[in-house]
Amino acid sequence: MSTDLPQHLHSAAYFGDQRDYWWHADFVALCVARLGIGQVERVLDAGCGVGHWGRVLLPHLPAAHLTGVDREPRWVQEATDRAGDFAPRCAYQVADVAVLPFADASFDLVTAQTVLIHVADPAAVLAEWLRVLRPGGTLLLAEPNNLSGTMSVGAPRHGEPIERRLDLVRLHMAVERGKRALGEGDNSIADLLPGLLRAAGLDAIRCWLDDRAPMVVPPYASIDQQLMIQDFLDMDERGWWGWSRADVERYYVASGQPAGDFEHLWRTARAAVAQDAAAMRAGQFSAAWGGLHYLFAATKPG
Ligand SMILES: C[S@@+](CC[C@H](N)C(=O)[O-])C[C@H]1O[C@@H](n2cnc3c(N)ncnc32)[C@H](O)[C@@H]1O
Repeated sequence: MSTDLPQHLHSAAYFGDQRDYWWHADFVALCVARLGIGQVERVLDAGCGVGHWGRVLLPHLPAAHLTGVDREPRWVQEATDRAGDFAPRCAYQVADVAVLPFADASFDLVTAQTVLIHVADPAAVLAEWLRVLRPGGTLLLAEPNNLSGTMSVGAPRHGEPIERRLDLVRLHMAVERGKRALGEGDNSIADLLPGLLRAAGLDAIRCWLDDRAPMVVPPYASIDQQLMIQDFLDMDERGWWGWSRADVERYYVASGQPAGDFEHLWRTARAAVAQDAAAMRAGQFSAAWGGLHYLFAATKPG
């Protein structure tokens, strides 16, 4: 993966094609059936990135035409290029998800995956999404509690000292608090979504957990496992811990945590990544690696 991206495009690191494998197709089909949205026609994929979420949904929405919007022209072009067989049913364009260029009630289904975690004011963005959703339409959101990932570790670190794990939780919490303080979003927004959806006036709020765990086990025989291992090793080679040191430090400082503790916490975090990466290179890393990835649905009152 390229390392010469401008800083603001570093979310490219999160566009690993493992996203194609985040959901079981039969689980998506089950949720579509539960929600009765199989025949929706006008779908908005807000914050579409390079189109992974749309390509997960479209096989289950045979009558749908999907409009994808993203603020990054580069992702919009790539989503267009990757549409493949879905091209006749997709159109991607540049737009801000907080100020959409669509009339009221333009869509039967408004959906997004891992987008609200990046916005400063999720309530305002939800209000904008509801504006373009028709009365009786469905809002479908896939958002995580990313902090949970810090507690899910592989075989090499299962028995690590409690203090070491707590340092990682502390650093992760500081990153999340700092990111929020900087107005860049909340990586564990899922915890707040039931309340935000209720406050937005939505009915029939439902919530499920993704039934797919991102398990890896030697010899990493499946493509999804290979992509996850590849992304992790790529992160290690960059010298990152989820984010670059510059971003982690920026968030940490903004969190208000004691500045003098940062170096120790960063070293601990990098050592954990390096330990896991070494085990992967030796073909000895295994993990269930689950995190809390939720699917929310709600109905706009008719
Ligand atoms: C983590 S990515 C998720 C992409 C896609 N939904 C997926 O699941 O693969 C978040 C995306 O939201 C976009 N984004 C964040 N804030 C945005 C905004 N205010 N307007 C438009 N796009 C935004 C980013 O450019 C990025 O492509």
